[in-house]
Amino acid sequence: MRKGMDHGSWSTDKTMKKYFITIMLACLLLAGCGHTEAVSTQEAEIVLSESESVTDVTDYKGDAEISTESDTVEGYPVFDFDHKTVTLNSGYEMPILGLGMFSLSDDQAENSTYWALKYGFRLIDTARIYGNEEAVGRGLQRAIDEGIVSRDEVFITTKMWTSDFDRPDEAIDASLRKLGVDYIDLMILHHSQPRNDVKAYKAMEEAVKDGRLHSIGLSNYYEPDDFDRLVIETTILPALLQNETHPYHQSTEMKEYIARYGTVLESWFPLGGRGNTQILFNDETIMKIANAHDKSSAQVIIRWHLQAGNICIPGSSNEQHIIEDYDVWDFELSEDEMVQMSTLDRNERFADY
Ligand SMILES: NC(=O)c1ccc[n+]([C@@H]2O[C@H](COP(=O)([O-])OP(=O)(O)OC[C@H]3O[C@@H](n4cnc5c(N)ncnc54)[C@H](OP(=O)(O)O)[C@@H]3O)[C@@H](O)[C@H]2O)c1
Repeated sequence: MRKGMDHGSWSTDKTMKKYFITIMLACLLLAGCGHTEAVSTQEAEIVLSESESVTDVTDYKGDAEISTESDTVEGYPVFDFDHKTVTLNSGYEMPILGLGMFSLSDDQAENSTYWALKYGFRLIDTARIYGNEEAVGRGLQRAIDEGIVSRDEVFITTKMWTSDFDRPDEAIDASLRKLGVDYIDLMILHHSQPRNDVKAYKAMEEAVKDGRLHSIGLSNYYEPDDFDRLVIETTILPALLQNETHPYHQSTEMKEYIARYGTVLESWFPLGGRGNTQILFNDETIMKIANAHDKSSAQVIIRWHLQAGNICIPGSSNEQHIIEDYDVWDFELSEDEMVQMSTLDRNERFADY
């Protein structure tokens, strides 16, 4: 994906913005963001020690750019529905709809990647821990060999797993090798892990400088304090935050919070996740909206994510579902339907990590 010549709607008065960010971060610290806290991860309960906490915001070297043009929250990246992309705070364009690879076998991941690219998707989301990066690379190569896409038209995201945070540079190189690419469009830390996630993030920053990574971000940071803990100790603002997000857990507060950094939200479990999709598909409100547009519940949920400003990465190993999941550009939820969708939020997650 190409890097924009400028940042679109982003303002250029960086001095004022840095001043604003510094004041804002100072306020956060005064409000107690540097205190000891417990953060649970999928692997272990890890406690943030005082020595790892933030003490000096003047060291903050972020280059936040606050947008003044947004029909959602000020600063939040604006989705371009004509091009089906968003410009990240890194300056790179990212597709707003992609296909997810969680829990897919090698064969499934290879085929799904290939089908996704064949039917229009330009964003693929995988992770080291899914064990299918090589298969994704094969699916990508197949699509390239058949002339469906070129490498620079495809946006590949992978994630660094927590057990790699102490040897992050090797992890970046391993993902490059497995995917069979010479740069990764976006690498994100898979989970918050205060003991060493800053170290891992700093290695990703180095990889941005030498071109192995284009953009970097985070996944599974659910509290502003936890997000700021990492932002304050690092230099490149996270381009993206990938958290569990769907109609029953809309992540509105976190999305509004990260807007100050120009960070975009990406939804995992956008359809509720395997085993839970029927709960959302059979929701009365969603079914009613789907009937009104002659679309499936899955399509209405995907369209809602996009209109709500969430990059959406449904997972599928089924060719027909993949076609269906990309067929969401010819209808629009009305303002009233968006309000109806927003009332479904229960702040309830399906996953426990
Ligand atoms: N950062 C993290 O910690 C994290 C965690 C989980 C997931 N993720 C990412 O987010 C992606 C999406 O999450 P997910 O795949 O777990 O859950 P999901 O997208 O919410 O749901 C996937 C389920 O939806 C079904 N599905 C997809 N399209 C459908 C359609 N049109 N009609 C009916 N069923 C449909 C799939 O079945 P079929 O295969 O039969 O289509 C599968 O059972 C993952 O693949 C992964 O890339 C990240």
